[in-house]
Amino acid sequence: MAAIEGASSEYDRVAEVYAQLRESQMLGHEMDWLEKGHSQPRVILDAGCGPGRDLRSLRRRGNFVIGLDLSEKMLSIASENNSDLIGRDQIGLVRGDLSRIPLNDSSIDAIWCSTVLPHFSATILTVVFKEFWRILREDGMLVCSVKLGIGEGYEAEEQLDNALRYMRYWDLDAFEKLALQLGFIRTDLHLWNERLRFPEVGRDIEFASLALKLTNEQRGIDQANIASRHCSRRCDSRG
Ligand SMILES: C[S@@+](CC[C@H](N)C(=O)[O-])C[C@H]1O[C@@H](n2cnc3c(N)ncnc32)[C@H](O)[C@@H]1O
Repeated sequence: MAAIEGASSEYDRVAEVYAQLRESQMLGHEMDWLEKGHSQPRVILDAGCGPGRDLRSLRRRGNFVIGLDLSEKMLSIASENNSDLIGRDQIGLVRGDLSRIPLNDSSIDAIWCSTVLPHFSATILTVVFKEFWRILREDGMLVCSVKLGIGEGYEAEEQLDNALRYMRYWDLDAFEKLALQLGFIRTDLHLWNERLRFPEVGRDIEFASLALKLTNEQRGIDQANIASRHCSRRCDSRG
């Protein structure tokens, strides 16, 4: 998948600049959704954690946080910035691709995915959401953000040393419809403008942050499929 590999090498190149530029852009209001109306999530995945700005705050909301990213350089900054918590059963870092997440089925209680989804076309997003669905436990939740608008393609960002990154803009209804088809229903929504929210570095871009829960209906259907797949594998190996 060329778009994904391209994103990784560009993020390796601009990781230091990104870490400084986006240091203040934590989505604190949305992070509170992880606690709202639920028992504290135990294992949280920071999907596309970048330089790890959010890992420490997520750790306060769960027992263990896994930061996953495709960029080696981003992970090495995340490791430096959180060295006191890594290796102490509090934060773990994993290099991986969100379209092939190297984690077990039903092993995660909540996924935090801050400003990563705009990098995916609808086709790749579908694969990523299937992976999110696979690794989440039954009552799991996903908190994510998308850019609102029309169009997609590669964009160079001046503030980020002209990093060339793929961006996909969404109509909110279309995004929610796709999420629902993939087994996620929206429970919280926050619409925001980046410049108004982060005046020091923000651009004039509209974002939507969403909290999504797994829909039981979909889960029921797919659990049945998983069960029958597992059964046929076991039956095959027994001969
Ligand atoms: C805009 S940054 C967001 C970083 C962090 N979540 C934040 O809020 O600052 C996007 C991150 O997603 C990572 N990324 C892009 N595509 C990925 C993929 N397919 N799998 C894993 N990480 C990916 C990039 O390496 C980058 O660190």
